[in-house]
Amino acid sequence: MIFGKQEARPVLDKTNIPVHIAAIMDGNGRWAQKRGLPRTAGHSAGSEAFQNAAEYLQSLGVQYFTVYAFSTENWKRPAEEVQAIMGLLDRYLRKAIREMAEKNIRLRFLGDLEPLPESLKKLIAETNEISRGTTGMQVNVCLNYGGRDEIVRAVRSLVREGVDPETITEDLLGSRLYSADIPDPDLTIRPGGELRLSNFLLWQNAYTEFYFTDTLWPDMDEAELDKAIAAYQGRKRRFGGI
Ligand code: FPP
Repeated sequence: MIFGKQEARPVLDKTNIPVHIAAIMDGNGRWAQKRGLPRTAGHSAGSEAFQNAAEYLQSLGVQYFTVYAFSTENWKRPAEEVQAIMGLLDRYLRKAIREMAEKNIRLRFLGDLEPLPESLKKLIAETNEISRGTTGMQVNVCLNYGGRDEIVRAVRSLVREGVDPETITEDLLGSRLYSADIPDPDLTIRPGGELRLSNFLLWQNAYTEFYFTDTLWPDMDEAELDKAIAAYQGRKRRFGGI
């Protein structure tokens, strides 16, 4: 007997999987509050969801998966919450160091890493080293990242070099962004019900397809990711043409 309406899981076109998927991992706090748990439990569930999503997207053939883990504005959160997120990153990096060669994953960090705890910076350096030898899906973690900040830094670097303004092209500016050499996202997913970009990959999202859902990030399982990819596959990308 069927109780309630069950939505069918979409069938994906395996020949049209996005090369690059980005995600704003929003809704962790609300996920926890709904269960009477502290917000930090939501981030912990969010970290699990991120790792499961990375594995699933890799199995589909996605080549780049970029997540917004910590923004330049997130330092305003209570110290305890900031510490909890840093702790989860630390845990994830230690696990990645053990497993990324076997899983054939590359890791890259986008953002101003300077103010991060020394221990985290050391782990990041270690994953960078391992990533030199791996060839599989690249996971990009945006950490102390802000889209406007990224563009300002890129402009500063060009001015510092004394580049002739007339020679500045989109490619040249793009090559000074944290995302240099990474193709723009094809699909950006924002769970958690908010309909905004929140300073995430402002330059890179210029022609990206967006998928918004009320589902909270910790609940973004394989079926929910399929819905996002199916929505993407139903879009016609014109890149400003007709
Ligand atoms: C936004 O949800 C989420 C964050 C600011 C933190 C995301 C960090 C993690 C999932 C942990 C570690 C990351 C990795 C890559 C291991 P919110 O707290 O704003 O949710 P709310 O809108 O419901 O309050």
